[in-house]
Amino acid sequence: MAETYQNSIGGRWVAARGGSTFCNRNPANGEVIGEFPASGPEDVGDAVEAARRAYGSWRLVPAPKRAEIVFRAGELIRGRKETIACAMTREMGKVLVEARGDVQEGIDMAYLAAGEGRRMYGVTTPSEMRDKWAMSARVPIGVVGVVTPWNFPFAIPAWKLMPALVAGNTAVFKPAGDTPESAWHFVRIFEEAGLPPGVLNLVFGSGSQVGDPMVAHPGIQAISFTGSTEVGLGIAAKGGALGKRITLEMGGKNAIIVMEDADLQLATDAIAWSAFGTTGQRCTACSRVLVHERVHDALAALLVERARGLKLGDGLEPGTEVGPLVNPAQVERVHAYVEIGTQEGARLAAGGGRPTDGRLARGSFYQPTVFTGVRPDARIAVEEIFGPVLALVRVRSLEEAIEINNASRYGLSSSIFTADVNRAFAAMRDLDTGIVYVNHGTTGAETHLPFGGTRGTGNGHREAGHTMLDPFTEWKSIYVDFSGRLQRAQIDNATEPGS
Ligand code: UN1
Repeated sequence: MAETYQNSIGGRWVAARGGSTFCNRNPANGEVIGEFPASGPEDVGDAVEAARRAYGSWRLVPAPKRAEIVFRAGELIRGRKETIACAMTREMGKVLVEARGDVQEGIDMAYLAAGEGRRMYGVTTPSEMRDKWAMSARVPIGVVGVVTPWNFPFAIPAWKLMPALVAGNTAVFKPAGDTPESAWHFVRIFEEAGLPPGVLNLVFGSGSQVGDPMVAHPGIQAISFTGSTEVGLGIAAKGGALGKRITLEMGGKNAIIVMEDADLQLATDAIAWSAFGTTGQRCTACSRVLVHERVHDALAALLVERARGLKLGDGLEPGTEVGPLVNPAQVERVHAYVEIGTQEGARLAAGGGRPTDGRLARGSFYQPTVFTGVRPDARIAVEEIFGPVLALVRVRSLEEAIEINNASRYGLSSSIFTADVNRAFAAMRDLDTGIVYVNHGTTGAETHLPFGGTRGTGNGHREAGHTMLDPFTEWKSIYVDFSGRLQRAQIDNATEPGS
């Protein structure tokens, strides 16, 4: 029997006002896992009202005390890591070891964000006037809307919500429809950790019925979104027109450059992990290899062998290396791209279809796929596919590889494999992405460095790291004049002759 779940609004677990629900399914076998509220604008309205009421007192709780609750949540997540990881694998398919990593990223983020409660540094600076004090402090924005994807159902809400709460905001949280149970665990844990009612409100439902009303609601001052470029740009247009702070984390088309002096075994391990891990459904996944012509064939042979040998299956079964895609629609999308790749004249060297093993027929599985001889401007080398499809592009030099990398619409992550320290440093300087790796794949960012990308990947902000508070705080500048008389800045102390 599938369990029934509810929204969390103002500290109470409630059904959607309209009474509708949707089912959450296991992509490995199609089974129904749970029934969740299909909420609407009226539920968003209730959540915003609860968040607005809670804001008045939450913003006055000292930041170190707010942060202690986040720390306690981290401890609770640690204690429940296995339960959450299993629930995550069941609802979105990634193999258990990776689901554990996703939960671990939430734990890491909790401890990191909790520390910010005792830092959250402002700046004091000398005033240009005598007997006057000048300083600036971070202050919360108000009610923030957080809209998260299904591919990192724990880490990404943690990147957003933990700093938002430490900073003194209250929140309305809309998780992706494919991963509601992970979000339910997240919010339950914060409730247990002692978060006051209304500070974190959870509303399940679709983008059109919950996400859009959040963007439009005048009671929400900022939206933090991770997901597709198409949806993100729509949010930026609508929210921007209303004067809201919009932070976006969108697509990627991440490349690994392999030079002729690279360790090809190591590069193969890293490329396979980056391209086929999480079934290619990471924003940071590698989907293009820009390989030096002298080692193209050798690397292609290694990658084809590796792709063919990967074991597909239910992510909860030991020995599984690649789980299903998140849902049947994603299988259709990935396959459509494979057909485009073939029509465009690339050579399909491995995979390219659903697995033939009958036991996998009920799930959303797709074979790890490798194309060779791909033109740098082919659609499979340019567009984000979000599946286990890798395109090998031949290059003649590092300069050419960097040029191809930087011509992409996206700029999240990139990597170079080389034994030459000069080339490594040139690549670190010239690759135009938010994250650059040397002799490492394109995935695996750690929480204490900023996460985000250039060009079409984002709109200028970074999440986590030492930048974690930026999307969720305003700066307030404060002057205290203790001279006891009128002092006019820029006038009474002017230095120019005759002024
Ligand atoms: C994502 O795919 O949106 O760097 C997040 C990584 C993970 C986070 C990925 N730590 O691959």
